[in-house]
Amino acid sequence: MKNSAYTAIPVDEKGYVPYSKEDGETWKHLFNWQQPLAQQHACTSYLTGMKTLGLSEDGPAQLPEVNSVLLAKTGWQLEPVDALINFKRFFGLLAEQKFPAATFMRRPDQLEYLPEPDLFHEVMGHCPILCNPEFSTFTHWIGKLGVQCNHEQQVALARIYWFTIEFGLIREDGNTKIFGGGILSSPKEITHSLDLSLVSHQPFDIETILRTRYRIDTPQPNYFVMDSTEQLLGIQDKKLLTRIDNAISDLKSAVI
Ligand SMILES: [Fe+2]
Repeated sequence: MKNSAYTAIPVDEKGYVPYSKEDGETWKHLFNWQQPLAQQHACTSYLTGMKTLGLSEDGPAQLPEVNSVLLAKTGWQLEPVDALINFKRFFGLLAEQKFPAATFMRRPDQLEYLPEPDLFHEVMGHCPILCNPEFSTFTHWIGKLGVQCNHEQQVALARIYWFTIEFGLIREDGNTKIFGGGILSSPKEITHSLDLSLVSHQPFDIETILRTRYRIDTPQPNYFVMDSTEQLLGIQDKKLLTRIDNAISDLKSAVI
């Protein structure tokens, strides 16, 4: 784990975590804050996935219970990990359709914003979208490509992951909707991400994304908006590695 303020909570032999009463209250508060905003602003795939998973205010959710539905419906499962893991482990897990999941709950003084992924982020941000075959196939594809990449290439590939699975927006019926789990697990970022007086929305463009650095410790100033999930399919191409290498080269020459 790198620079985490939290300690990983080990699961017991059945995969359960003994959460405190305070953790339960934090989950419930976040769920009831997040859900009305998500119902209004999340994309259709997220809302369908929420129904499939049957997640509720009673929590924190336990990984074996989420996995019992997720695995049967999608072939994916949550794998308990420390809050922050390295790229090698991250892409390796995705390649096996194991979604890395930090098991701790954020502290009550960090309800609004948390730079690290906690259980609410993993379950409420990512799992509903994983129920959609287009998004889950894309996530699996990124993992399989990531394990073949060197570290520099992984850094560039992580930008694609960041601006889609974590912080992606998508157009639906003329409206801008959210599918990124980093946004959907943060009620404040849901409204922040759609407020064009605070942030910019750019057309989804893979070449730009590969050259866009990001920060993990502050709400995003910039989001990319897909026209449809067809654009995820467009990325899944053998030429992506060449595009990644070109972007690495461009960024290096820009620094020089
Ligand atoms: Fe995440």
